[in-house]
Amino acid sequence: MADGIYEVIRSYDGHLFQLQQHIERLNYGAKALRFRQTSLEEFIDVAESLIEMNHLKQCPATVYLQITRGVAPRSHKLPSSETPLTMYAIPKQLIIDNSEQEKGISAITVTDQRWERCDIKSISLLLNSLAHQQAIDANAKESIFIRNGFLTEGSHTNVLMVKDNTIITPPITNHILDGITRKVVLQICKNCGIDICLSPIPENELFSADELMIVGTTVEITPVVQLNNQTIGNGFPGRFTRQLQKSFGDLTIKD
Ligand code: PDD
Repeated sequence: MADGIYEVIRSYDGHLFQLQQHIERLNYGAKALRFRQTSLEEFIDVAESLIEMNHLKQCPATVYLQITRGVAPRSHKLPSSETPLTMYAIPKQLIIDNSEQEKGISAITVTDQRWERCDIKSISLLLNSLAHQQAIDANAKESIFIRNGFLTEGSHTNVLMVKDNTIITPPITNHILDGITRKVVLQICKNCGIDICLSPIPENELFSADELMIVGTTVEITPVVQLNNQTIGNGFPGRFTRQLQKSFGDLTIKD
């Protein structure tokens, strides 16, 4: 039934970045999927121990957390609320290609054919995965979804653009994941006095952006310098992207 939710949490020197926010988002998904009430706080200790026990404190790593409805005979009806949830966690060393953040990446646009509940971090990622593969097949690194002519998000990232010294990104709706990195980046903008505009972005405006970037737990802040083979801005990571990368980097040390 694909009735599961997940989180990917980034570990910086053994410290799990924004862990509480990830747990809160799990709780949000658990409610939406009508999971039985369970304290997810125990995941905090599990995640931290997994990094330590697997000697991943010294390197970039992630912890993947997943909760599914548990073991029950197949039926469209939900199993009894007594059925224990299945909770699963795995740590992984993260191999980072720094050149992507330094030089920027190419992306493509793809029609967003996903369901109407992209606000839930569901394990049902088939269309995200197919879209991502479409990018790879086109020698690009990310697919940017377009729904009814407007930007939603990337296959595994949120998208922000810079136009006339303002950071513009779509507001959170049921068509977009309320990304934690996006939230952190918008907070950095507020702290630095950078103007923010939460507004729907028509597809064609992406091509006239001064800067374009994808943000997410794994990519952090990665500039997009080409979209559908068209150059964005001057084809190099812009000054806002650089400033945000720097401030974000500082936060990962302190958080
Ligand atoms: N993806 N949008 C989608 C569809 C995502 O899957 C993700 C994260 C994001 C960014 O969210 P956050 O900043 O909270 O990581 C936006 C994770 C990393 C993944 O599926 O691997």
